Amino acid sequence: MSISPTKLEALAIDGGRPVREKLLPYGRQSLDDNDIRAVVDVLKSDWLTTGPKVGEFEEAFAARVNAKYAVSFSSGTAALHGAAFAAQLGPGDEVVTTPLTFCATANCVLYQRATPVFADVCDDTLNLDPQEVRSKLSSRTKAILAVDYAGHPAALDELRQIAESAGALLIEDACHALGAEYRGQSVGGIADMTVFSFHPVKHLTTGEGGMVATNDAKLAETLRRFRNHGISSEARQRQQSGQWFYEMVLLGFNYRLTDIACALGISQLEKLDDNLARRRQIAARYNSAFRGEEGVIAPRVRAEVNPAWHLYPIRVESAKLRGGRSQIFRALRAENIGVNVHYIPVHLHPYYRDCFGYRGGEFPVAERAYEQLISLPMFHGMSDEDAEDVIKAVNKVLSHYYVG
Ligand SMILES: Cc1ncc(COP(=O)(O)O)c(C=O)c1O
Repeated sequence: MSISPTKLEALAIDGGRPVREKLLPYGRQSLDDNDIRAVVDVLKSDWLTTGPKVGEFEEAFAARVNAKYAVSFSSGTAALHGAAFAAQLGPGDEVVTTPLTFCATANCVLYQRATPVFADVCDDTLNLDPQEVRSKLSSRTKAILAVDYAGHPAALDELRQIAESAGALLIEDACHALGAEYRGQSVGGIADMTVFSFHPVKHLTTGEGGMVATNDAKLAETLRRFRNHGISSEARQRQQSGQWFYEMVLLGFNYRLTDIACALGISQLEKLDDNLARRRQIAARYNSAFRGEEGVIAPRVRAEVNPAWHLYPIRVESAKLRGGRSQIFRALRAENIGVNVHYIPVHLHPYYRDCFGYRGGEFPVAERAYEQLISLPMFHGMSDEDAEDVIKAVNKVLSHYYVG
Protein backbone atom coordinates (compact mmCIF):
# COMPACT_ATOMS: atom_id res chain seq x y z
CA MET A 1 0.00 0.00 0.00
CA SER A 2 1.25 3.45 -0.74
CA ILE A 3 0.97 5.15 2.63
CA SER A 4 0.42 8.82 1.99
CA PRO A 5 2.51 11.15 4.11
CA THR A 6 -0.27 13.76 3.84
CA LYS A 7 -3.01 14.05 6.47
CA LEU A 8 -5.20 10.93 6.53
CA GLU A 9 -8.92 11.23 5.81
CA ALA A 10 -10.95 10.44 8.98
CA LEU A 11 -12.36 6.92 9.03
CA ALA A 12 -16.14 6.51 9.12
CA ILE A 13 -15.72 4.40 12.27
CA ASP A 14 -14.19 7.49 13.91
CA GLY A 15 -16.97 9.82 12.71
CA GLY A 16 -15.57 10.61 9.25
CA ARG A 17 -17.49 10.44 5.98
CA PRO A 18 -17.93 6.86 4.66
CA VAL A 19 -16.60 5.98 1.21
CA ARG A 20 -20.15 5.01 0.20
CA GLU A 21 -23.54 6.32 1.24
CA LYS A 22 -25.19 2.90 0.98
CA LEU A 23 -23.88 -0.54 1.96
CA LEU A 24 -22.38 -2.55 -0.90
CA PRO A 25 -23.21 -6.22 -0.11
CA TYR A 26 -20.52 -8.89 -0.46
CA GLY A 27 -22.70 -10.77 -2.94
CA ARG A 28 -26.11 -10.59 -4.58
CA GLN A 29 -28.12 -11.95 -7.49
CA SER A 30 -28.74 -10.30 -10.87
CA LEU A 31 -32.07 -11.02 -12.53
CA ASP A 32 -33.35 -9.61 -15.82
CA ASP A 33 -36.70 -9.54 -17.66
CA ASN A 34 -35.97 -12.85 -19.42
CA ASP A 35 -35.54 -14.55 -16.06
CA ILE A 36 -38.83 -13.14 -14.83
CA ARG A 37 -40.61 -14.14 -18.06
CA ALA A 38 -39.26 -17.70 -17.81
CA VAL A 39 -40.65 -18.04 -14.28
CA VAL A 40 -44.02 -16.52 -15.18
CA ASP A 41 -44.35 -18.91 -18.14
CA VAL A 42 -43.97 -21.88 -15.81
CA LEU A 43 -46.47 -20.40 -13.37
CA LYS A 44 -49.01 -20.41 -16.21
CA SER A 45 -48.15 -23.99 -17.28
CA ASP A 46 -49.36 -27.41 -16.12
CA TRP A 47 -46.21 -28.36 -14.24
CA LEU A 48 -44.92 -26.43 -11.24
CA THR A 49 -42.75 -29.35 -10.14
CA THR A 50 -41.58 -32.73 -11.60
CA GLY A 51 -42.30 -31.27 -15.04
CA PRO A 52 -40.29 -30.77 -18.24
CA LYS A 53 -38.12 -27.87 -17.04
CA VAL A 54 -36.27 -30.12 -14.60
CA GLY A 55 -34.77 -32.38 -17.27
CA GLU A 56 -34.18 -29.40 -19.56
CA PHE A 57 -32.15 -27.61 -16.89
CA GLU A 58 -30.24 -30.75 -15.99
CA GLU A 59 -29.29 -31.45 -19.60
CA ALA A 60 -28.19 -27.89 -20.31
CA PHE A 61 -26.21 -27.82 -17.06
CA ALA A 62 -24.48 -31.16 -17.71
CA ALA A 63 -23.46 -29.94 -21.17
CA ARG A 64 -22.07 -26.69 -19.73
CA VAL A 65 -19.89 -28.41 -17.11
CA ASN A 66 -18.91 -31.22 -19.48
CA ALA A 67 -20.42 -34.05 -17.45
CA LYS A 68 -22.60 -36.89 -18.72
CA TYR A 69 -25.31 -36.42 -16.09
CA ALA A 70 -26.56 -33.68 -13.80
CA VAL A 71 -29.19 -34.25 -11.10
CA SER A 72 -30.90 -31.22 -9.56
CA PHE A 73 -31.64 -30.80 -5.85
CA SER A 74 -33.50 -28.29 -3.74
CA SER A 75 -30.24 -26.80 -2.39
CA GLY A 76 -26.50 -27.32 -2.48
CA THR A 77 -26.79 -28.89 0.96
CA ALA A 78 -29.38 -31.40 -0.28
CA ALA A 79 -27.11 -32.12 -3.26
CA LEU A 80 -24.21 -32.82 -0.86
CA HIS A 81 -26.48 -35.15 1.10
CA GLY A 82 -27.34 -36.91 -2.17
CA ALA A 83 -23.66 -37.32 -3.00
CA ALA A 84 -22.92 -38.69 0.49
CA PHE A 85 -25.78 -41.19 0.08
CA ALA A 86 -24.75 -42.22 -3.44
CA ALA A 87 -21.19 -42.77 -2.14
CA GLN A 88 -22.83 -45.33 0.21
CA LEU A 89 -21.46 -43.68 3.33
CA GLY A 90 -22.56 -45.27 6.55
CA PRO A 91 -21.57 -45.69 10.20
CA GLY A 92 -17.84 -46.40 10.62
CA ASP A 93 -16.92 -44.87 7.26
CA GLU A 94 -14.58 -41.88 7.13
CA VAL A 95 -14.45 -38.97 4.71
CA VAL A 96 -11.37 -36.75 4.54
CA THR A 97 -12.35 -33.12 4.07
CA THR A 98 -11.28 -29.53 4.70
CA PRO A 99 -12.06 -27.55 7.84
CA LEU A 100 -12.03 -24.25 5.90
CA THR A 101 -15.49 -24.43 4.40
CA PHE A 102 -19.16 -23.85 5.06
CA CYS A 103 -20.40 -26.36 7.63
CA ALA A 104 -22.73 -28.03 5.07
CA THR A 105 -19.68 -29.70 3.46
CA ALA A 106 -18.88 -31.75 6.55
CA ASN A 107 -22.49 -32.02 7.74
CA CYS A 108 -23.45 -34.19 4.76
CA VAL A 109 -21.07 -36.85 6.08
CA LEU A 110 -22.81 -36.71 9.46
CA TYR A 111 -26.25 -37.03 7.82
CA GLN A 112 -25.10 -40.51 6.75
CA ARG A 113 -23.76 -41.28 10.24
CA ALA A 114 -20.24 -41.43 8.84
CA THR A 115 -17.28 -39.46 10.26
CA PRO A 116 -15.67 -36.37 8.73
CA VAL A 117 -11.90 -36.46 9.19
CA PHE A 118 -10.40 -33.04 8.65
CA ALA A 119 -7.07 -32.43 6.93
CA ASP A 120 -5.32 -29.08 6.89
CA VAL A 121 -5.17 -26.80 3.85
CA CYS A 122 -2.38 -25.38 1.67
CA ASP A 123 -1.35 -21.88 2.69
CA ASP A 124 -1.61 -20.43 -0.83
CA THR A 125 -5.01 -21.65 -2.08
CA LEU A 126 -6.57 -22.60 1.28
CA ASN A 127 -7.68 -25.83 -0.42
CA LEU A 128 -7.05 -29.35 0.93
CA ASP A 129 -3.34 -30.12 1.15
CA PRO A 130 -2.79 -33.51 -0.57
CA GLN A 131 0.06 -34.37 1.84
CA GLU A 132 -2.24 -33.78 4.80
CA VAL A 133 -4.97 -35.84 3.14
CA ARG A 134 -2.56 -38.73 2.68
CA SER A 135 -1.71 -38.65 6.38
CA LYS A 136 -5.42 -38.93 7.29
CA LEU A 137 -6.24 -42.01 5.21
CA SER A 138 -7.27 -45.19 6.95
CA SER A 139 -8.84 -48.50 5.99
CA ARG A 140 -12.19 -46.79 6.67
CA THR A 141 -11.70 -43.90 4.23
CA LYS A 142 -14.58 -44.09 1.76
CA ALA A 143 -14.31 -40.66 0.13
CA ILE A 144 -12.26 -37.52 -0.15
CA LEU A 145 -14.49 -34.45 -0.13
CA ALA A 146 -12.61 -31.47 -1.57
CA VAL A 147 -13.85 -27.88 -1.66
CA ASP A 148 -12.88 -25.37 -4.34
CA TYR A 149 -12.43 -22.55 -1.85
CA ALA A 150 -13.52 -19.14 -3.18
CA GLY A 151 -13.86 -20.67 -6.67
CA HIS A 152 -10.22 -21.84 -7.00
CA PRO A 153 -10.27 -25.56 -7.92
CA ALA A 154 -8.64 -27.91 -5.44
CA ALA A 155 -5.58 -30.02 -6.43
CA LEU A 156 -7.90 -32.39 -8.27
CA ASP A 157 -5.32 -34.59 -10.04
CA GLU A 158 -3.38 -35.28 -6.85
CA LEU A 159 -6.56 -35.84 -4.86
CA ARG A 160 -7.95 -38.19 -7.48
CA GLN A 161 -4.75 -40.25 -7.43
CA ILE A 162 -4.88 -40.44 -3.65
CA ALA A 163 -8.57 -41.40 -3.73
CA GLU A 164 -7.95 -44.10 -6.34
CA SER A 165 -5.05 -45.59 -4.43
CA ALA A 166 -7.20 -45.67 -1.28
CA GLY A 167 -10.18 -47.21 -3.11
CA ALA A 168 -12.19 -44.10 -2.23
CA LEU A 169 -14.41 -41.76 -4.24
CA LEU A 170 -13.47 -38.15 -4.95
CA ILE A 171 -16.39 -35.81 -4.28
CA GLU A 172 -15.88 -32.16 -5.16
CA ASP A 173 -17.86 -29.47 -3.37
CA ALA A 174 -17.81 -26.92 -6.18
CA CYS A 175 -20.47 -24.71 -4.62
CA HIS A 176 -17.99 -21.82 -5.13
CA ALA A 177 -16.68 -22.93 -8.46
CA LEU A 178 -19.32 -23.17 -11.19
CA GLY A 179 -17.47 -22.29 -14.42
CA ALA A 180 -13.97 -22.73 -12.96
CA GLU A 181 -11.40 -24.68 -14.96
CA TYR A 182 -8.71 -27.08 -13.86
CA ARG A 183 -5.99 -27.87 -16.42
CA GLY A 184 -8.34 -26.57 -19.13
CA GLN A 185 -11.30 -28.71 -18.09
CA SER A 186 -14.50 -27.42 -16.48
CA VAL A 187 -15.12 -28.54 -12.93
CA GLY A 188 -18.08 -30.90 -13.09
CA GLY A 189 -16.65 -33.74 -15.16
CA ILE A 190 -13.45 -34.36 -13.18
CA ALA A 191 -14.38 -35.80 -9.76
CA ASP A 192 -16.66 -38.83 -9.30
CA MET A 193 -19.38 -36.41 -8.20
CA THR A 194 -19.28 -32.60 -8.26
CA VAL A 195 -21.73 -30.57 -6.22
CA PHE A 196 -22.99 -27.06 -7.03
CA SER A 197 -25.18 -24.48 -5.27
CA PHE A 198 -27.56 -21.94 -6.80
CA HIS A 199 -27.96 -19.72 -3.74
CA PRO A 200 -28.41 -16.04 -4.73
CA VAL A 201 -24.76 -15.10 -4.10
CA LYS A 202 -23.56 -17.77 -6.55
CA HIS A 203 -22.69 -17.54 -10.27
CA LEU A 204 -26.26 -18.39 -11.20
CA THR A 205 -29.28 -18.59 -8.97
CA THR A 206 -32.55 -20.47 -8.68
CA GLY A 207 -33.36 -18.89 -5.29
CA GLU A 208 -32.36 -22.05 -3.47
CA GLY A 209 -31.06 -24.96 -5.50
CA GLY A 210 -28.23 -27.34 -6.18
CA MET A 211 -26.91 -29.96 -8.61
CA VAL A 212 -24.70 -33.02 -8.64
CA ALA A 213 -22.77 -33.65 -11.86
CA THR A 214 -21.29 -37.07 -12.58
CA ASN A 215 -20.14 -39.26 -15.46
CA ASP A 216 -21.39 -42.41 -13.74
CA ALA A 217 -24.85 -43.63 -14.82
CA LYS A 218 -25.36 -45.68 -11.67
CA LEU A 219 -24.54 -42.79 -9.34
CA ALA A 220 -26.87 -40.54 -11.38
CA GLU A 221 -29.72 -43.04 -11.02
CA THR A 222 -29.21 -43.31 -7.24
CA LEU A 223 -29.10 -39.51 -6.96
CA ARG A 224 -32.37 -39.17 -8.91
CA ARG A 225 -34.12 -41.70 -6.68
CA PHE A 226 -32.70 -40.25 -3.48
CA ARG A 227 -34.05 -36.77 -4.20
CA ASN A 228 -37.51 -38.24 -4.91
CA HIS A 229 -38.31 -40.32 -1.78
CA GLY A 230 -36.33 -43.26 -3.16
CA ILE A 231 -39.04 -43.87 -5.78
CA SER A 232 -37.98 -45.56 -9.00
CA SER A 233 -40.04 -43.45 -11.42
CA GLU A 234 -41.27 -39.89 -11.59
CA ALA A 235 -44.86 -38.61 -11.57
CA ARG A 236 -44.72 -37.23 -15.09
CA GLN A 237 -43.34 -40.47 -16.54
CA ARG A 238 -46.25 -42.31 -14.91
CA GLN A 239 -48.81 -39.82 -16.13
CA GLN A 240 -47.41 -39.96 -19.67
CA SER A 241 -47.41 -43.74 -19.77
CA GLY A 242 -50.84 -44.01 -18.14
CA GLN A 243 -49.37 -45.93 -15.19
CA TRP A 244 -50.07 -45.54 -11.49
CA PHE A 245 -47.63 -48.13 -10.16
CA TYR A 246 -44.41 -47.06 -8.47
CA GLU A 247 -42.01 -48.61 -5.99
CA MET A 248 -39.87 -47.10 -3.28
CA VAL A 249 -36.52 -48.81 -3.55
CA LEU A 250 -34.38 -46.82 -1.11
CA LEU A 251 -34.91 -44.37 1.75
CA GLY A 252 -34.88 -41.00 0.05
CA PHE A 253 -36.15 -37.49 0.69
CA ASN A 254 -38.15 -34.86 -1.10
CA TYR A 255 -35.18 -32.82 -2.31
CA ARG A 256 -36.71 -31.94 -5.71
CA LEU A 257 -36.03 -28.64 -7.43
CA THR A 258 -39.26 -27.16 -8.81
CA ASP A 259 -39.96 -26.34 -12.45
CA ILE A 260 -40.26 -22.72 -11.35
CA ALA A 261 -36.68 -22.80 -10.09
CA CYS A 262 -35.42 -24.84 -13.06
CA ALA A 263 -36.90 -22.35 -15.54
CA LEU A 264 -35.00 -19.62 -13.72
CA GLY A 265 -31.89 -21.81 -13.81
CA ILE A 266 -32.15 -22.33 -17.60
CA SER A 267 -32.48 -18.60 -18.15
CA GLN A 268 -29.64 -17.81 -15.74
CA LEU A 269 -27.38 -20.44 -17.32
CA GLU A 270 -27.48 -18.47 -20.57
CA LYS A 271 -25.73 -15.63 -18.74
CA LEU A 272 -23.19 -17.74 -16.90
CA ASP A 273 -20.29 -16.98 -19.24
CA ASP A 274 -20.94 -13.23 -19.01
CA ASN A 275 -21.21 -13.49 -15.23
CA LEU A 276 -17.90 -15.33 -15.01
CA ALA A 277 -16.20 -12.84 -17.31
CA ARG A 278 -17.41 -9.97 -15.14
CA ARG A 279 -16.21 -11.63 -11.93
CA ARG A 280 -12.82 -12.24 -13.55
CA GLN A 281 -12.62 -8.56 -14.55
CA ILE A 282 -13.36 -7.44 -10.99
CA ALA A 283 -10.81 -9.92 -9.62
CA ALA A 284 -8.20 -8.56 -12.06
CA ARG A 285 -8.91 -5.01 -10.89
CA TYR A 286 -8.61 -6.06 -7.23
CA ASN A 287 -5.45 -8.06 -7.99
CA SER A 288 -3.75 -5.06 -9.51
CA ALA A 289 -4.76 -2.92 -6.53
CA PHE A 290 -3.76 -5.36 -3.78
CA ARG A 291 -0.95 -7.60 -5.07
CA GLY A 292 2.34 -6.56 -3.55
CA GLU A 293 0.71 -4.06 -1.19
CA GLU A 294 1.82 -3.85 2.42
CA GLY A 295 -0.44 -5.20 5.14
CA VAL A 296 -2.60 -7.34 2.87
CA ILE A 297 -2.22 -10.60 0.96
CA ALA A 298 -4.31 -10.94 -2.22
CA PRO A 299 -5.66 -14.41 -3.13
CA ARG A 300 -3.10 -16.51 -4.96
CA VAL A 301 -3.92 -18.40 -8.14
CA ARG A 302 -2.05 -21.50 -9.29
CA ALA A 303 -0.97 -21.72 -12.92
CA GLU A 304 -3.14 -24.75 -13.73
CA VAL A 305 -6.50 -23.16 -12.84
CA ASN A 306 -8.91 -20.51 -14.02
CA PRO A 307 -10.93 -19.65 -10.88
CA ALA A 308 -14.61 -18.76 -10.88
CA TRP A 309 -14.18 -16.06 -8.19
CA HIS A 310 -17.20 -16.74 -6.03
CA LEU A 311 -15.33 -14.86 -3.29
CA TYR A 312 -12.41 -12.48 -3.21
CA PRO A 313 -10.84 -13.19 0.20
CA ILE A 314 -7.92 -11.00 1.20
CA ARG A 315 -5.75 -11.82 4.23
CA VAL A 316 -4.71 -8.97 6.47
CA GLU A 317 -1.24 -9.24 7.97
CA SER A 318 -2.30 -8.67 11.54
CA ALA A 319 1.29 -8.23 12.81
CA LYS A 320 1.65 -5.14 10.62
CA LEU A 321 -1.71 -3.63 11.57
CA ARG A 322 -2.97 -2.07 14.76
CA GLY A 323 -6.07 -3.90 16.01
CA GLY A 324 -5.89 -6.88 13.66
CA ARG A 325 -8.60 -8.36 11.44
CA SER A 326 -11.58 -7.49 13.65
CA GLN A 327 -10.72 -3.82 13.69
CA ILE A 328 -10.16 -3.71 9.91
CA PHE A 329 -13.45 -5.56 9.41
CA ARG A 330 -15.42 -3.12 11.55
CA ALA A 331 -13.78 -0.12 9.92
CA LEU A 332 -14.64 -1.41 6.42
CA ARG A 333 -18.25 -2.04 7.41
CA ALA A 334 -18.42 1.55 8.71
CA GLU A 335 -17.26 2.69 5.25
CA ASN A 336 -20.33 0.82 3.94
CA ILE A 337 -18.34 -1.98 2.37
CA GLY A 338 -20.22 -5.23 3.06
CA VAL A 339 -17.24 -7.39 3.96
CA ASN A 340 -17.69 -10.90 5.33
CA VAL A 341 -15.55 -13.74 6.71
CA HIS A 342 -15.33 -17.17 5.05
CA TYR A 343 -15.04 -19.27 7.17
CA ILE A 344 -14.97 -20.08 10.85
CA PRO A 345 -13.22 -23.48 10.49
CA VAL A 346 -15.84 -26.20 10.83
CA HIS A 347 -14.11 -28.04 13.69
CA LEU A 348 -14.28 -24.89 15.84
CA HIS A 349 -18.10 -24.72 15.78
CA PRO A 350 -19.60 -25.76 19.14
CA TYR A 351 -21.37 -28.78 17.61
CA TYR A 352 -18.11 -30.21 16.25
CA ARG A 353 -16.19 -29.34 19.43
CA ASP A 354 -18.85 -31.13 21.50
CA CYS A 355 -19.15 -34.18 19.26
CA PHE A 356 -15.47 -34.67 18.39
CA GLY A 357 -13.54 -32.91 21.17
CA TYR A 358 -11.77 -30.35 19.00
CA ARG A 359 -10.13 -27.58 21.05
CA GLY A 360 -8.48 -25.48 18.36
CA GLY A 361 -4.86 -25.79 17.23
CA GLU A 362 -5.46 -29.03 15.27
CA PHE A 363 -5.30 -27.38 11.81
CA PRO A 364 -2.84 -24.50 12.13
CA VAL A 365 -2.87 -23.36 8.49
CA ALA A 366 -6.67 -23.13 8.32
CA GLU A 367 -6.91 -21.54 11.75
CA ARG A 368 -4.25 -18.92 11.02
CA ALA A 369 -5.96 -18.08 7.72
CA TYR A 370 -9.30 -17.71 9.49
CA GLU A 371 -7.78 -15.08 11.80
CA GLN A 372 -6.71 -13.06 8.77
CA LEU A 373 -9.48 -13.49 6.21
CA ILE A 374 -11.84 -10.78 4.98
CA SER A 375 -14.03 -11.39 1.91
CA LEU A 376 -14.45 -8.25 -0.17
CA PRO A 377 -17.63 -7.68 -2.18
CA MET A 378 -17.60 -9.85 -5.32
CA PHE A 379 -20.61 -10.34 -7.58
CA HIS A 380 -21.21 -10.06 -11.30
CA GLY A 381 -23.65 -7.14 -10.92
CA MET A 382 -20.98 -4.88 -9.39
CA SER A 383 -20.13 -1.74 -11.34
CA ASP A 384 -16.60 -0.43 -11.89
CA GLU A 385 -17.44 2.35 -9.41
CA ASP A 386 -18.43 -0.24 -6.81
CA ALA A 387 -15.05 -1.97 -7.23
CA GLU A 388 -13.22 1.36 -7.00
CA ASP A 389 -15.10 2.15 -3.76
CA VAL A 390 -13.92 -1.15 -2.30
CA ILE A 391 -10.31 -0.45 -3.26
CA LYS A 392 -10.52 3.10 -1.92
CA ALA A 393 -12.02 1.92 1.37
CA VAL A 394 -9.43 -0.84 1.86
CA ASN A 395 -6.58 1.59 1.20
CA LYS A 396 -8.15 4.22 3.44
CA VAL A 397 -8.61 1.81 6.34
CA LEU A 398 -5.22 0.09 5.98
CA SER A 399 -3.47 3.49 5.87
CA HIS A 400 -4.86 4.20 9.32
CA TYR A 401 -3.98 0.91 10.91
CA TYR A 402 -0.69 0.08 9.17
CA VAL A 403 2.28 0.12 11.52
CA GLY A 404 4.75 -1.68 9.24
C1 LIG B 1 -18.70 -24.63 0.13
C2 LIG B 1 -20.20 -24.72 0.29
N1 LIG B 1 -20.77 -25.92 0.33
C3 LIG B 1 -22.10 -26.06 0.46
C4 LIG B 1 -22.93 -24.97 0.53
C5 LIG B 1 -24.41 -25.16 0.70
O1 LIG B 1 -25.13 -24.70 -0.40
P1 LIG B 1 -26.66 -24.23 -0.23
O2 LIG B 1 -26.64 -22.90 0.47
O3 LIG B 1 -27.15 -24.12 -1.65
O4 LIG B 1 -27.36 -25.28 0.54
C6 LIG B 1 -22.39 -23.70 0.47
C7 LIG B 1 -23.27 -22.53 0.57
O5 LIG B 1 -22.93 -21.41 0.40
C8 LIG B 1 -20.98 -23.56 0.35
O6 LIG B 1 -20.41 -22.36 0.32
